[in-house]
This record gives sequence, structure tokens and C-alpha cells, in this order.
Amino acid sequence: MNIAVITGASSGLGREYVKAVFRMYPALEEIWIIARRENKLFELKVELGDKIRIFPIDITDNFAVNQYSEMLKETNANVRLLINNAGFGKHGNFYEIPTEENCGMVRLNCEALTLMTSVTLPFMSAGAEIINTCSIAAFAPNIRMAVYCSTKAYVMSFSRALRGELKKRQINVLAVCPGPMNTEFLPVANIGKGTSKAFDTLPRVKVREMAEKSLLASKRKKAVYTNKGFYKFYRFIAKILPTSFVMKMAKT
Ligand SMILES: NC(=O)c1ccc[n+]([C@@H]2O[C@H](COP(=O)([O-])OP(=O)(O)OC[C@H]3O[C@@H](n4cnc5c(N)ncnc54)[C@H](OP(=O)(O)O)[C@@H]3O)[C@@H](O)[C@H]2O)c1
Repeated sequence: MNIAVITGASSGLGREYVKAVFRMYPALEEIWIIARRENKLFELKVELGDKIRIFPIDITDNFAVNQYSEMLKETNANVRLLINNAGFGKHGNFYEIPTEENCGMVRLNCEALTLMTSVTLPFMSAGAEIINTCSIAAFAPNIRMAVYCSTKAYVMSFSRALRGELKKRQINVLAVCPGPMNTEFLPVANIGKGTSKAFDTLPRVKVREMAEKSLLASKRKKAVYTNKGFYKFYRFIAKILPTSFVMKMAKT
């Protein structure tokens, strides 16, 4: 059975990925959508129909991920597309953010993404695609987002190296790097109006456009995708200028 798997599917970018995959990959037999809030997943199933299979699980829970992996075996799944999108950030000084939240970002953004990739990869074959939601936060460290930026730097490094390894199996890995999007991410990160000059002024990325354009980039077998000239330019200067200078410029 040809399927797509999307984590963080209950809101924001993940929800848009579900809808975009539904439209852009008509040959898929099922789309497996994962997040903790069952009611939000169920709403998508009601909207899109029987192609949607919901998994209301916490992917930082190894036991729950094991159940998902058993289901891959039972259904003889052929995963054509894996979108590792679940993630969260926290804004603030490292020492002011509760330990559970600092470590929680590492558990979800890095460890769970690695675990999901590891258990899904045996069910992927030539022509399949992996999309990892990274961030512009991967381009340079930002003060007051120390752990979040570090987790996304991990996602970038992991995605690029894995892409190199999987070339011979003809599986592409794309790191998607959005700038700020108006999703639940911002309130979860404690970012509101007035919290940070940068977040107040940075151009917003449209969620639906990000989902669609990154899927096209994945089909074109790209390694990294950033939307909007402003953030493409930021990626470029973060590569060529000294990190300390970029950090001063991109203060969050
Ligand atoms: N919005 C931005 O400004 C921005 C910018 C750059 C990158 N990103 C990245 O984009 C991705 C999507 O974020 P978003 O903006 O769409 O924010 P969002 O609306 O808060 O989405 C996060 C998703 O992750 C799920 N999730 C959180 N913890 C989970 C867990 N333990 N197990 C399973 N699912 C979990 C959430 O669902 P449940 O709560 O139902 O579990 C939700 O569906 C993240 O990786 C984020 O780092 C966001």
C-alpha cells in the first residue's frame, strides 16, 4: 500500500501539508497523519475522507512510535513520502526556560524526528521522499533561542548527511526552512506582539504556499528549500559572513 506519513499534522504547516499532499499526490492510497490532538486529526479525516488514517500519538513516546511501526509492518506499507514536521520552540534566555521545555525541544525536534526516520526508512524504496521541517533558525545561532536554533541546526546537518547516504537508494531528503509563520508555533514559543523587535517586523511566510512550494522542491530532489527572497538572502549572508556578525544582525 502506497502511503504518506506526516507528523505535526493537527495544525499550522503540518495541517497544510496534509491538504497539499492530498491534492498533489493523488496516487497515494492512504495519508497517515500524526499528532497528539485526536479531535484536530479527526477534523481532517472528516474533511478529506477515507484516505486519511489518524494516529493520535505523542512521538516522543517510544512505545507509541513502536505501535506506529507495527502498523507499517501489518499493512505492508510502502512509504512514498515521510514529512517529519512536528516541532516546537521556546523564546527566552536558556536559564529562564524550564528544563523540561529546553529538553523537550531536543526530544521532539531531534530525537523523535530521528526515531520516526529510523523506523520508517525500512518501508521506503526508490523514488521515495523525506521532508524534514527545519527553519531559518538553522542558518545561524540566535540568542534567546539557543536550544531551538541548535535543534534545527541538527535537523539541517542530519538531513544533508542522510541525503548523501540515501542517494544510492534514490530517496531524496529535503530540509525545509520556513521563516516566521502565523501558526500556533508563535504562542507556544511565548512570542507575542512586543516580545521581540525581530519577530514584530520579520516578513511572515504563508503556510499554504510554504507547504506547496516545498513539496515541489522535494519532487525536484532539492536538498534545502527556503521561501521568500528575504530569507534566501539571509541564508546566503549567514554562509559568507562571520557568525558573530550575523548573530548581532539577527537578534531575536
Ligand atoms: N511557525 C513558525 O514561525 C516556524 C518557523 C520555522 C519553522 N517552524 C517549524 O515548523 C514546524 C511546524 O510548526 P508550526 O509552525 O506548524 O506550529 P504548530 O501549529 O504549533 O504545529 C506543531 C505540530 O506539532 C505537533 N506536535 C507537537 N508536539 C508533538 C508530539 N510530542 N508528538 C506529536 N506531535 C506533536 C502539534 O500537534 P499536537 O499539539 O496535536 O500534538 C502540531 O501539529 C515545526 O517543526 C517548527 O519548528 C515553524
